Amino acid sequence: MSLTDMPQATNMPQVVHRSLTRAEALWLHHELKTTPNILGYTVRELEKLSDVQVAMVGENFAGACLSVDLIQGWTEITALYVLPEFRGLGIGKTLFRAAWELAQQRKRHVYVLSRNSQVVEWMRELGMTVDGKLWRAPLAVHWYMQRYMASWHRSVESVRKWKAIAKCPPLVQGIKKYERASLL
Ligand SMILES: CC(C)(COP(=O)(O)OP(=O)(O)OC[C@H]1O[C@@H](n2cnc3c(N)ncnc32)[C@H](O)[C@@H]1OP(=O)(O)O)[C@@H](O)C(=O)NCCC(=O)NCCS
Repeated sequence: MSLTDMPQATNMPQVVHRSLTRAEALWLHHELKTTPNILGYTVRELEKLSDVQVAMVGENFAGACLSVDLIQGWTEITALYVLPEFRGLGIGKTLFRAAWELAQQRKRHVYVLSRNSQVVEWMRELGMTVDGKLWRAPLAVHWYMQRYMASWHRSVESVRKWKAIAKCPPLVQGIKKYERASLL
């Protein structure tokens, strides 16, 4: 079934830009523990995020895409997660595109880091420069990573997930600098 095949209007996935509720943050925190592709976030971190695309199917939380503003005009799309029961319906791609479009509207440079081949494909579709040379990441990303990794929760998670992570494809980055000229 695809998004367009879904029978009832109430079951149509909707993507809204808003913060996560406490219940959603708790749920996402728990769900992120199940994937080696994202190290994870504390509930408090998730609740504090303001740049979140949230997918709802009826009353149900179906997934989210998290973005964080970095220094020097960069925005990182830091995590994309769709609950297993809602996968394969186009929700992930819609969330990712929504995060991308908002960053573009805000004239931000965009950075994405992912091990997921689907996400890497979406980066290519959007014209991002895609490679595995992470040392070439913008300074803003190196700066942010220091803070991101200086987290007790992520330290614990990286130890807990290390075997699963070792079996995953390597990390790939997508870089797209905002170009004023491309919009003219
Ligand atoms: C990655 C993830 C967000 C994708 O969400 P999703 O809602 O299932 O993705 P979609 O339904 O939007 O996928 C749409 C596209 O992927 C393709 N696709 C769906 N399932 C696929 C699969 N198992 N393998 C390859 N392609 C697949 C669809 O054919 C479609 O292709 P198109 O782009 O050509 O139209 C989801 O699998 C997930 O949350 N995974 C765990 C966390 C993760 O890995 N996040 C990414 C790291 S940042």
